[in-house]
Parts: sequence; C-alpha cells; structure tokens
Amino acid sequence: MYQYKSKRTVRTVAAACTMALMPLLALGQKNDPNMGIVPAPVSVSKGKGEFKYSPETIVLVDSPEHKAVKFFAEYLRKAGLATSVTDMRTVDRNKMSLKNTIYLNMTFSGDMKPEGYELKINDDGVELKGHGAGMFYGIQTLMQLIKPTSPGSATIPCGNIRDFPRFAYRGMHLDVSRHFFDVDFVKKYIDVMAMYKLNNFHWHLTDDQGWRVEIKKYPKLTEVGSKRAQTRIGREAGASNAPSSFDNTPHGGFYTQDQINEIVNYASARYINIVPEIDMPGHTAAMLAAYPELSCDPSKKYKVGEKWGVYDDFLCPTEETFKVLYDILNEVMDMFPSKYIHIGGDECNKASWKRSQFCRDLIASQKLMNEEGLQSYFIAKIAKHVQSQGRQVIGWDEILEGGLAQGAVVMSWRGDKGGIAASQLGHDVIMTPGSGGLYFDHVQSKSPQEPLSIGGFAPLEKTYNYNPVPEVLNKEQQKHVIGVQANLWTEYIATPGKAEYMFLPRMLALSETGWTPTQIRDYEDFSTQRLPGHLARLEKFGYNFRVPAPIGAKDTTMKGGKFTLELKPSVEGGKVYYSVDGNEPTENDLVYTTPVEITVPEGGTVVFRCITATPGGKRSVSTTIKMEN
Ligand code: ACM
Repeated sequence: MYQYKSKRTVRTVAAACTMALMPLLALGQKNDPNMGIVPAPVSVSKGKGEFKYSPETIVLVDSPEHKAVKFFAEYLRKAGLATSVTDMRTVDRNKMSLKNTIYLNMTFSGDMKPEGYELKINDDGVELKGHGAGMFYGIQTLMQLIKPTSPGSATIPCGNIRDFPRFAYRGMHLDVSRHFFDVDFVKKYIDVMAMYKLNNFHWHLTDDQGWRVEIKKYPKLTEVGSKRAQTRIGREAGASNAPSSFDNTPHGGFYTQDQINEIVNYASARYINIVPEIDMPGHTAAMLAAYPELSCDPSKKYKVGEKWGVYDDFLCPTEETFKVLYDILNEVMDMFPSKYIHIGGDECNKASWKRSQFCRDLIASQKLMNEEGLQSYFIAKIAKHVQSQGRQVIGWDEILEGGLAQGAVVMSWRGDKGGIAASQLGHDVIMTPGSGGLYFDHVQSKSPQEPLSIGGFAPLEKTYNYNPVPEVLNKEQQKHVIGVQANLWTEYIATPGKAEYMFLPRMLALSETGWTPTQIRDYEDFSTQRLPGHLARLEKFGYNFRVPAPIGAKDTTMKGGKFTLELKPSVEGGKVYYSVDGNEPTENDLVYTTPVEITVPEGGTVVFRCITATPGGKRSVSTTIKMEN
C-alpha cells in the first residue's frame, strides 16, 4: 500500500522545516566563478555581455597549418559555424581591424607557462594567446564557452582567462586486455580526454587475458595470445572451474601496427601522448601461451587467461627472455614516440620463480637477496635497455621492492606510500591510488542498481577530493610528483557503453585534480554549477555516463515532522522525478517543479525517492530519503 500517491496527499506546509537539506537552498543562487569551465582555470575575470559570433566573424590565425588551428577549424565546421580562416601573414596588421574577429595569436611576446594560454573575450572580438598545447587548451576552453544560437551563429560570454596546468602529467589508463576495445572507441576515449585537457593516455596493451599489439618479429603473440577461448561470468566468489561459470564464447582482438600508428597520430593531433604498457614479468599468461619457452617451466600447458585475478605464469629471467623483450620493446618504441614506456612490474607473486632451479641459481650467482631482488634485477635490465634508446621507464609501485632501477618513474597504485617512498628517493612519481578514488572500475555508489563491478568504492566526490601531493613530502620531494592518473581496468567492463558509464563523470573530476590549483578547487561549484552543463554536452556528443543523483538528494534518514526538499536535475535540461510512496520513481511519477514540502504524520514514515532523467533518456539510480517522525 502506498503511503502517499499524489501531490494532493503531500500536504504543503507554509513554514516548512528545512533541517538536513539546508545546503540545497542555495542552489542557483551561487554564481559560478569559473564561467562553467572544466577544469576550472587558474584565473577568471568575468566580463559583462557577450561576443556575438556570426557568419561574418573572421578567425585570424598566425599559422593555418598548425594542428591546434586545424582542430579548431574542423570544430567550427562540424558545429555549423563555418567561417573564413585568415592567415595573419597575408594581411597588413596595422590596417587590419580586430573587430568581429577571433584571433588565435601564437606570435605574441612575453612569457607563458608551459601548456598555458590567455583568453580575452570582449563584445567586439576574441583573442587567444598560446603556443602549442597552450593554444590547444585555450581552444578547448573557447569551445566550452561557445553557445550556438541559430545556424551559423553563437554567443561567447565576455571575460578574461589566464590558465595553465598544475601537473605536467595528467593521465587516463585503459585496459584493453581484459576486454578488447576497437579503434573507434579508443579515439572516442582520446576525444574526451582532450576536451578535459588530459595529456597522457596509458594504454595497457598486454595482460594474462590477451595480448593486443602486433609485434612483427613474434607473430604468435597475436595469433595465439590475442584470443581466449571463453570468459568467466560474473563476480568470482571463490575459485570455480565449473563449465557453467564460463560464457563459452571466444573473445579476442588486437591492434595492427598501422592502427597503432593511426591512433598515435590521432592522439598527437590532440596533444595527447600515448604511454604504451607491456606488462612484465607477471601478467604474462597470454605471452606464455604463445611462447611457453619464455617461462620457467616450458613443459606446462599455458593458455590465454579466462578468469581474473593474479596468475603465477611468469617470464623466466633467462637471457633468451631478455632478448625477446628487447625486440618487443624496440618495436613498441618504434610505434610510440612517447618519452615514457611502461613496463608494468605489478603483482608478481613469484611462485614460478620459487619453484625454478634456474632462478635459484641466478639469485645466487647475481648475489641477490631473494625473489624480490630478482624482480629488481629484471626491471633494472629492462630499464637499462629502454633508457639506452633514449626513453624512460614507468613501473607500478612494486618496482620499488628489492631496489628501484635508476631513472625509473613510479606509478603509485597501492595507496600513496609507493609514491612517497619513490619521491623521497628522488624519483618522479605519478599518483594513481585506488584508495584515492582513481580506480574507475570501482563502484560509484552503494546502490544495488549499480552495474556489476570489481568492487571498491569511488564516488565522484572522493575522486574529486584526492590530493596527489602528500603532505609528508618536503618542497623538493613534492616536485617529484609529476602528475596524477585514473585507471580503467576492464574485467567487468565489456562494452563501450559500460566503460563510459564507469569513467564519466569521474574523468572530469580527475581533470580538475590534474589541472586546477588546490586553493580554487571546490566540489560544490564543480558538481552543482558546472557539471550539469558538461553532462548535457557529453550526451549531445554521444557519450554514456553515470547520471548523478538529483542535486540536493542524498541517501539518508531524517527525523522530524516537516521537510522542504529542494532539488535540481544533475544534467542540464533534465528533469527530476520523484515518488513519496517508497516505490522506484519513473517518468510517469511526479515531476519536480518547485520545492517539495512534506509533512510526516506523528509515528509515521515517508519514503521519498527521486531520480534525474536526462534529455537523452538516461536515468540516475534512485536516491532514497527516509523521513521519520
Ligand atoms: C594494478 O592495479 N595491478 C596496477
């Protein structure tokens, strides 16, 4: 039986009690100081009025061939804002009026921070100053500010922006081994990274469950290693090898070197570097299925992994193995111009090394302490090879164990402690801890309506509030924190739609962590003032995302007799629907228009549930507010 069914039965109370939901009352009253921009710029001074972009507007450029300029011209074309792009070198600057122009200025004098830009928008013209990536990021900001009005026309609000990033490395990782994602999806991922000024795409190309990059010298890596016979269904609750717990469906895929080349160029046009990862000496079951002779026990039958978790199928540190790895890495370095090459190093439980006479002998002959020392010996040899080609290695924080290789960069994933230790040793570090809300495979709310995931808990606010620079570090050590990254492991993410659900909107929170100075980071401004517009924009661009709860709604129980619930859709243009009978709200339920006033009878309970529905038809999980009197 419903306690309340319609608006009629929700009694309106003039002097409603506003306990517990007080903060909501400020909604819409606060003026976003960041002009809606994500990530929030270093300095914004809002102006009055707007620049009116029309078919007569001229885009003036210093260099039409510049990739940032080409990117902007393409954006304008696609947005139906076709315009003439005029090369500044062809006009007399003294006679040229800057009225009704957008001037992309790359030849200014004066300093600009790395990747920085300055944007001045007046009602009669726009000037953007920046070099290289700075110009590109200024264009991204401009694109966020341009509001198309009618075909060929748009408005841009007036203001002055000075901006540059907090960290040089702002990364997103994608695991394409556990599930393969095609070229189009990878490009879409790169597109959204570029929109939010992220500049390093960490591509996890190899793991137990699939080898995904063509290596010409070792064709079996993809012929054998890119395919698994089947995949474990659902969450592994205890080991089960029962046939019914597998999907009985082959899964595979890999990128040819031509495709890699295409993606590297695509990313580069968007100022994104690709850090390829070839994981070793563990996470190599797929490699051993192709080349069992690289293991410590070649008589064992290896197969491409069909289940998740940590395997003990490891590369054996023989000279033959190193030769193969050097060859592979050489091809990888030919494909990827990145300064950084990621060599994994995580989760080596070393069981196969412990069983191996060869490894015991090697530990003794190299005077290593134990298997940790052997791991360090392994990584040091690989690091030396990579560095001999003028590159630098990155490894997961396990590479600290047994001694850190010279010049290696540490990716701190098991909390901050690896990052702290490495920066104290004078190594550069990238912070990417699961405990900091940076594992985007972790669940985003505790609702049972969330899709199946690996577990963990990383709500948007936690991601947003992560501080990549631990306070225990002194000023010198802090400089070694070169950046921050979030990881998308895909054991439980098999489709592009689910991947997008998991990384959006958290990627936008990460972008602000990586870019915006700490002093001006403000979760409330981000989540209530700016995010709704960005989510509407992402929906228009065809992205799926997790729709946040209506702004102002939080799963909670409150005590009292009278309440006023003030809510706002978490996506611009969306609607809030609610029920007051405890049932899951649908689009046929009550639509929120004005604050809802609720009276709870003495001794009674009202269960209020609400959702946001987006203009494109996505829905949030429902939020439940229980009111007891
Ligand atoms: C990791 O999550 N195994 C780096």
